[in-house]
Amino acid sequence: MPESHARFPKALEADLLRLYRDYFDMAERRRRWSLRHDVPWADCNPSLDPAVADVVESFLAVELYLPDYVASAMTMLRPSRACVWFYANWAYEESKHSLALGDWLLRSGRRTEAQVADLEGRVFAREWRVPHDSAVGMLAYAAVQELATGLNYRNLRRKVDGQGDPALSRLLGLLGVDEQAHHSFFLKAVRLFLGHDRAGTLAQLYRVLHHFAMPSIYEMADGPRRVEAVKALGVFNDRLYFDEVYRPVLAALGVSRPELRRAARGLAPTGAAA
Ligand SMILES: [Fe+2]
Ligand SMILES: [Fe+2]
Repeated sequence: MPESHARFPKALEADLLRLYRDYFDMAERRRRWSLRHDVPWADCNPSLDPAVADVVESFLAVELYLPDYVASAMTMLRPSRACVWFYANWAYEESKHSLALGDWLLRSGRRTEAQVADLEGRVFAREWRVPHDSAVGMLAYAAVQELATGLNYRNLRRKVDGQGDPALSRLLGLLGVDEQAHHSFFLKAVRLFLGHDRAGTLAQLYRVLHHFAMPSIYEMADGPRRVEAVKALGVFNDRLYFDEVYRPVLAALGVSRPELRRAARGLAPTGAAA
């Protein structure tokens, strides 16, 4: 079995399983929502800025890479029941996100069935590889990506609320709550790994934080244009990444930047954050 597929130590697996059960219980009690009933679909705004629809389409593309996220995670984390069961639940929730964004593009009249099908075809034509080759690297990457995705939805929702579209506003709110819950699970998982192997986890965390890019749309032929459109709308940019993703993730994990840099150079960790 490759190193990256190795079983986790028993105590770590037990902690991860507890984390997953807490996550699952909370999702069942508080967070389930209905795509059909919880979004006021009749309240789409036909005069919304077309730039918003373009960004919604880009976010749909990111969510459509679901098979690639799941395949990579299930393969790498297969020996961990906690992680595999989590990803099964996570995949169900993410599958709703692409349905919701696609439904809004269609119901608002911003895209035709043929245009959405064309986008799906272009996404599925190319397999996306998760850019990390270790279990903890993948979990850390997910922690960062989920936080960034949640911020994208929050900021896009603010733009939408300035113009009015109750349907899109509601669905972005629902997606944002899900992404925050995903981020929280992954972050807590990384915290558990830090407790078991601080140096190794920090080395992976450094790679993730210092080479992060929103996935997938970069790989599309028109990816650079899509990234620029997200920036132009003020939804996400490098400054937001540093202030609202990079620094909060380190703070939440109790890791200082000097300690992270030391770990990246292969030096012994110095302990808690300064
Ligand atoms: Fe999502
Ligand atoms: Fe998510």
